Amino acid sequence: MGFATDAIHVGQEYEPATGAIVAPIYQTSTYVQPELGRNKGYDYARTAHPNRRALERTVAKLEGGAAAYVFTSGMAAIDSVFRLLRPGDHAIISEAVYGGVIRLTTQFLVQWGLEFSFVDTSDLEKVERALKPNTKMLYVETPTNPTMSVTDLAAVARISTARGVTLVVDNTFLSPYLQSPIALGADIVVHSMTKYLNGHSDAVGGAAILTRPDDAEKIYFLQRSTGAGLAPMDCFLISRGIKTLAVRMKQHDANGMAVARFLEAHPRVKQVLYPGLASHPHHAVAARQQRGFGAMISFDVATMENARAVLNAVKLCSLAESLGGVETLISHPATMTHASVPVEVRQRIGITEGLIRLSVGIEDVEDLIADLDQALARI
Ligand SMILES: Cc1ncc(COP(=O)(O)O)c(C=O)c1O
Repeated sequence: MGFATDAIHVGQEYEPATGAIVAPIYQTSTYVQPELGRNKGYDYARTAHPNRRALERTVAKLEGGAAAYVFTSGMAAIDSVFRLLRPGDHAIISEAVYGGVIRLTTQFLVQWGLEFSFVDTSDLEKVERALKPNTKMLYVETPTNPTMSVTDLAAVARISTARGVTLVVDNTFLSPYLQSPIALGADIVVHSMTKYLNGHSDAVGGAAILTRPDDAEKIYFLQRSTGAGLAPMDCFLISRGIKTLAVRMKQHDANGMAVARFLEAHPRVKQVLYPGLASHPHHAVAARQQRGFGAMISFDVATMENARAVLNAVKLCSLAESLGGVETLISHPATMTHASVPVEVRQRIGITEGLIRLSVGIEDVEDLIADLDQALARI
């Protein structure tokens, strides 16, 4: 079946007992057992529940994985994946990764004897040079948040396979509609489902999609042991959101390109970072491995004062953290999403004070462009 059909039907079956086309929200903590030692597939909601199982089937199918586990947030999913490592292991991470990953690894996971190197994974030579005898994981975000750097997934997969290193890819920015990391060689995919998979800015959730049975077993052990599995109501909301993923992503993609072109032609904009533009240094790689360019755009207006003027003047775009919802969000990475990233790292990877990030929604694009135009006129 095609992607849109799978998104609407896999894990989204009607409920056989009543025929309800939408399965109920199993808002219960425990399950009555008909006799000692026998249950009906569920015993306690921390371990598993029908809404979680359903969503996990949908997500595994869309990413082409063998199994998926859904968590209370993207960070909970990412944390569980790093816990596949053992003390003494080393992991290479894309240097312009989401700030929360930098915080989790450098301020917390290092205390358990794990070692991390932050490397520009768009540069294959740098990846090769960063490999050590104890390197066990290569963690790639592509495109990166918010600098929109693109890593060649097939090429890094060749490197990781040759060295027996697990390749993990954060596919949050494009969603499985626009990019399939497992088909390009990834072993594990992670998501902040808070973003495009849900798409309606009304739930927080994460997913880890696995290809190897031993990884799946460990991740499920962790999920049920720590109690980090997603609750029924949030699973229901995200399952509902996924039904429209294909149509939403088509519109996000079209709006993203139109807004990027408008910004690139605007005299007050110093630089636009969007892999769909021919001016982007990684345009060719993005065009080869992605089925579209998505709706995340960063643009530089040179100074903090200019950024402040634009962010305070927008009316339709909402000044807020997060991304991937139907409504357009605008943010200032240096003081918002990436404030926890050390200033020297921010400078090195290009998170300047004039950088503004847009998560382009699916409103009428003329309205978005008119709003940005009036805001840029305040500079
Ligand atoms: C690319 C990316 N990965 C992971 C996360 C973390 O996800 P969550 O906020 O659901 O924990 C985010 C959050 O913004 C993100 O942008």
